Amino acid sequence: MLSPTAIIAIFAVAAVVASPAPAPAPQAVSSVVSAASSIFSSATGAAENALQTAILAIPSLDDIEKELRLDPNSSDLANISTSALLIPSYANQTDQGWNIRFYGLAYKQPQNISTSGLDKIINGLHTDNLNDTETSLLQNRTTALASIPVPHANFTANVLQNGTNVTSQPLNLTTADASGEFDQFITVSQSRVIGNGVQVVETGILNATGPDNSTAILVPSQGISVVSDIDDVLRITKVYVPNQGLFNSFVEPYVNVPGIPELFAQWEKKLPNVSFHYDTTTPVQLTRTYVDYLFNNFPLGSLEMRPVNISEPSQILDARQNSLLKLFQTFPQRKFVLVGDTSSSTLLSAYPQIAQQFPQQIACIFIRNTSSTDSDDKLPYDTSDFQKLDNSTYFFYRVAEDLANLDIVSGQCVNSSIPQNVTYGEQGGVLDSAAILINTSRAKLAAWAVGAVVGLFMVV
Ligand SMILES: *[C@@H]1O[C@H](CO)[C@@H](O)[C@H](O)[C@H]1NC(C)=O
Ligand SMILES: *[C@@H]1O[C@H](CO)[C@@H](O)[C@H](O)[C@H]1NC(C)=O
Ligand SMILES: *[C@@H]1O[C@H](CO)[C@@H](O)[C@H](O)[C@H]1NC(C)=O
Ligand SMILES: *[C@@H]1O[C@H](CO)[C@@H](O)[C@H](O)[C@H]1NC(C)=O
Ligand SMILES: *[C@@H]1O[C@H](CO)[C@@H](O)[C@H](O)[C@H]1NC(C)=O
Ligand SMILES: *[C@@H]1O[C@H](CO)[C@@H](O)[C@H](O)[C@H]1NC(C)=O
Ligand SMILES: *[C@@H]1O[C@H](CO)[C@@H](O)[C@H](O)[C@H]1NC(C)=O
Ligand SMILES: *[C@@H]1O[C@H](CO)[C@@H](O)[C@H](O)[C@H]1NC(C)=O
Ligand SMILES: *[C@@H]1O[C@H](CO)[C@@H](O)[C@H](O)[C@H]1NC(C)=O
Ligand SMILES: *[C@@H]1O[C@H](CO)[C@@H](O)[C@H](O)[C@H]1NC(C)=O
Ligand SMILES: *[C@@H]1O[C@H](CO)[C@@H](O)[C@H](O)[C@H]1NC(C)=O
Ligand SMILES: *[C@@H]1O[C@H](CO)[C@@H](O)[C@H](O)[C@H]1NC(C)=O
Repeated sequence: MLSPTAIIAIFAVAAVVASPAPAPAPQAVSSVVSAASSIFSSATGAAENALQTAILAIPSLDDIEKELRLDPNSSDLANISTSALLIPSYANQTDQGWNIRFYGLAYKQPQNISTSGLDKIINGLHTDNLNDTETSLLQNRTTALASIPVPHANFTANVLQNGTNVTSQPLNLTTADASGEFDQFITVSQSRVIGNGVQVVETGILNATGPDNSTAILVPSQGISVVSDIDDVLRITKVYVPNQGLFNSFVEPYVNVPGIPELFAQWEKKLPNVSFHYDTTTPVQLTRTYVDYLFNNFPLGSLEMRPVNISEPSQILDARQNSLLKLFQTFPQRKFVLVGDTSSSTLLSAYPQIAQQFPQQIACIFIRNTSSTDSDDKLPYDTSDFQKLDNSTYFFYRVAEDLANLDIVSGQCVNSSIPQNVTYGEQGGVLDSAAILINTSRAKLAAWAVGAVVGLFMVV
């Protein structure tokens, strides 16, 4: 079993500089707290809840650089040219045209690296007796993890529709931040984008090495947006059993949660002007792995990955809240279906919070009760934030079929034949050696913050 200190790990970038986002960023959570303190009054409790969750031990960038013997300040990286990761994104319609989000990471990919060392430093990952498929998946995913961010990179980009340039000259992106991340909106003249309803355009970085293309969904101002977590909602990860969670994330082909691809396909057909947004706290370096899997099994959509510069657990919650806030502010007339699961404590806080802030924009909140169908799930979870919501707007489901016949458009979110068993407090089973609980007492929290074990964690 992993010791909690081996699992509690902070992602640290060589130079973590909290520079403000270069883009017209949405209101930060901290300013929302002061502007509407009643809405986020539970922010402290929520941040603590974020600790009480399953954590997968992924090596830190520091560990990776050491393993690869790459000193980020040395000339080793200087000879590698800069690559770009463009994350599939969304665009809203404005009077000036489509306002497209350019969101991604500048990085360098060390070549010919031996990942056998890397997988050894993934704490608790056992890689004996793998077959060829498993070996190549492990190689691909650990290599992706070894992408080294490039601070302050500059890129130019373009937009294509069906292979035809929509932009007449290269778009200059704002300089990436100290973690190599960029996130901004650029408006593209309406007349150049043809068609109605939900459309897709191709986006690309013009001056990076390697694959640099992506997609942006042009989302009409009215309609329904489905926002979904990925791990243990769409794919079976079992983050609540850490050893299995790691194996399922790094070694095994991804496996769908039964019935969910069919449910999403049904929603794609039935819901008006529907768009899909996948929000995960998986590290941004694994974006391509996730995109490949998602777009082969679920409707095309936009993604939100975990930011690089996370240094404490409450920032995971902040990242969730900020990405939801950005969506709700970008699409003020759309209604949202939010999908999550009980093993993701950040969502059990973030969904009720956004629902209180924008009650008129909530269609339904669906939470998969992972402990009701998987006896391996012994992680406690806390549903108390849901008590503040209208109980006709949220529903704890067990399997996809529980949601199949709901008339979401008419406001039906509850399948009354499914017992809810929700008592607005800590739920779930007793811990055993298979599950890891991070103790949430303030003393432990302080010790954790000071202890600063450097690593990269995944809270889902
Ligand atoms: C790299 O350089 C930065 C700034 O000069 C410094 O803060 C950092 O400690 C250096 N990192 C290493 C691994 O030497
Ligand atoms: C390798 O293992 C995976 C996962 O257990 C399995 O799905 C796959 O069929 C195996 N592949 C081969 C070539 O044996
Ligand atoms: C891993 O595989 C994906 C396809 O699933 C590919 O797009 C990506 O470039 C590969 N990554 C690396 C680092 O080889
Ligand atoms: C990107 O442009 C900015 C502003 O022009 C400059 O300060 C920075 O050094 C450039 N970044 C790189 C990696 O060249
Ligand atoms: C891309 O082009 C811009 C504008 O010419 C330039 O500032 C930037 O350095 C280039 N980026 C890379 C990674 O070559
Ligand atoms: C699209 O335009 C950009 C400049 O804006 C150019 O570099 C690129 O080659 C063009 N691509 C196509 C497919 O025409
Ligand atoms: C991008 O920057 C270049 C060089 O600074 C400039 O010539 C060009 O007009 C800019 N493009 C746009 C679309 O603003
Ligand atoms: C782009 O191509 C798709 C599929 O070939 C087609 O359905 C669509 O109408 C095209 N859109 C435009 C604007 O040409
Ligand atoms: C990038 O382009 C390749 C080749 O056209 C395509 O297979 C891939 O799906 C594209 N990637 C994204 C994220 O759109
Ligand atoms: C479009 O999105 C931007 C960025 O979130 C937002 O500031 C703006 O208000 C939105 N415009 C409309 C018309 O909704
Ligand atoms: C509620 O409890 C019943 C009886 O223990 C169980 O069968 C059911 O799966 C539970 N429902 C949920 C949503 O957890
Ligand atoms: C919702 O709350 C009302 C009272 O406010 C209660 O009568 C009803 O049983 C609750 N419904 C569910 C599904 O818990």
